[in-house]
Amino acid sequence: MGFHYLLNVSKKQMELIRKHLLRRLHDKNLEKKDGLSIVYDLTYMCNQGCPGCCVSAIAYKKGKEITMEEHGSNTNEVYKILSKIKEFVDSRPELDFFLDFGGGELSLRPDYKDIIKTAASMFGSESIGMNTNGTLISIEDLLELDPYISYIGISIDGLEEYHNRWRKSVEGGNSFQRTMNLIKKMLEYPSLANKLDITTVPTKKNLHEIKELMHYLHSIGIKNYSVHRAMQVGRFWYKDDLVPSNEDYFKLFLEIIETGEELGMNVHLHHSIESIYTALLLGVNTYAGDNIGNPDRKASLAIDPWGRIFFDPWCTVEPWDKLAKSSLLNEDTTFEQILREHGGVQDLIDSYCRKDIRCKGCPVACSGGNRIASAANHIRSNFGLSAREVTKEHLLTAMDSVDPACPLYKNSSEYINYNDSEFQKVVDKYHTFFNIPQ
Ligand SMILES: C[S@@+](CC[C@H](N)C(=O)[O-])C[C@H]1O[C@@H](n2cnc3c(N)ncnc32)[C@H](O)[C@@H]1O
Ligand code: SF4
Repeated sequence: MGFHYLLNVSKKQMELIRKHLLRRLHDKNLEKKDGLSIVYDLTYMCNQGCPGCCVSAIAYKKGKEITMEEHGSNTNEVYKILSKIKEFVDSRPELDFFLDFGGGELSLRPDYKDIIKTAASMFGSESIGMNTNGTLISIEDLLELDPYISYIGISIDGLEEYHNRWRKSVEGGNSFQRTMNLIKKMLEYPSLANKLDITTVPTKKNLHEIKELMHYLHSIGIKNYSVHRAMQVGRFWYKDDLVPSNEDYFKLFLEIIETGEELGMNVHLHHSIESIYTALLLGVNTYAGDNIGNPDRKASLAIDPWGRIFFDPWCTVEPWDKLAKSSLLNEDTTFEQILREHGGVQDLIDSYCRKDIRCKGCPVACSGGNRIASAANHIRSNFGLSAREVTKEHLLTAMDSVDPACPLYKNSSEYINYNDSEFQKVVDKYHTFFNIPQ
């Protein structure tokens, strides 16, 4: 049934898989029991027009000033949203909280540094992060922000040629070189270097060069490297042919952890996929059912530039915006009320992230299985609909689908039962090697 890619691994590789997944699990468990992380997109304007952008960011017109209206919210409105988040976080002192600013390209906002500083004064700098394409920000900007921030994610999507093809910028020129120049300057300042994480979105077209990219990044001194998963949202909704398969992901996982070990880099693949491997191959329950968001210890919600809350950072644009409810900018509406709205964030979580629902009720206690990726794959594979044609009903009925990155996924209408005798050969191999009681 095609599990050769899981079976043809050496003992050394299996040892590495165990070591990596247990370290990641341990790191997660070190965090406080319950966590909430929010990705707050400050704008959907951008200076790049990546063909797979998950938020379908709009490339601004060179030379034309971007208005606050185009960004979504003005400075005061952003502060209003932050204070509503604060009110919620303060009411849950047990929550380990993290606020990750993203976009679009947040540095296109003239007030982005003030927003980050204000957020740090409200939540503490250890709870603030940001994501950028690194083409517009200067080293001086980052040095100014250094005391107010603990995470800086910068995107590099491949080697120079691929990256420049994927990430053409409005300003023209060589985006790869521009971002790498900033990265190299950051590495001269240990405090910035420690906060830096280079991230890559894998696609069918760059999988083969990720190892070489890691070698290059290591050669200039990069320590932290993360590979996202290609989320079929935004402009990627139409890129069916570019989404890596479950086999691609496993091979990539092996390759990045082997390369990371060889080079001494701290690497990981997106947690929704690593959680699947941890549950299936290590037999560890990664499902923590009664958390506030997705059933993972560190739940993630998103806020869009208009203050609307979404139940997953990957579902803020069409067609997922059809599930959006009220905005935090509405007078008298609290964060808590929006979460609890009928048919809102908490209802979606309660209805679709439950273990007996997600991935068609797969018996494995697994916190992987991203609902957005599963539903998008189901809708695209079965109906081929454009994002505009998709209705709320399509989305809701597709949310219990099997995650296409899971080894148990076969195709959009078939999946393999965990107890299937062929798959049990995989389980036996790993569990026997890892000495896990059957
Ligand atoms: C939307 S971007 C915003 C920040 C900044 N403009 C950038 O590109 O880094 C946030 C992160 O999402 C990643 N991303 C974009 N499209 C994606 C997709 N379809 N699937 C997964 N990640 C994606 C980017 O590479 C980046 O790491
Ligand atoms: S991925 Fe980032 S840089 Fe690329 S278009 Fe989207 S927001 Fe802009």
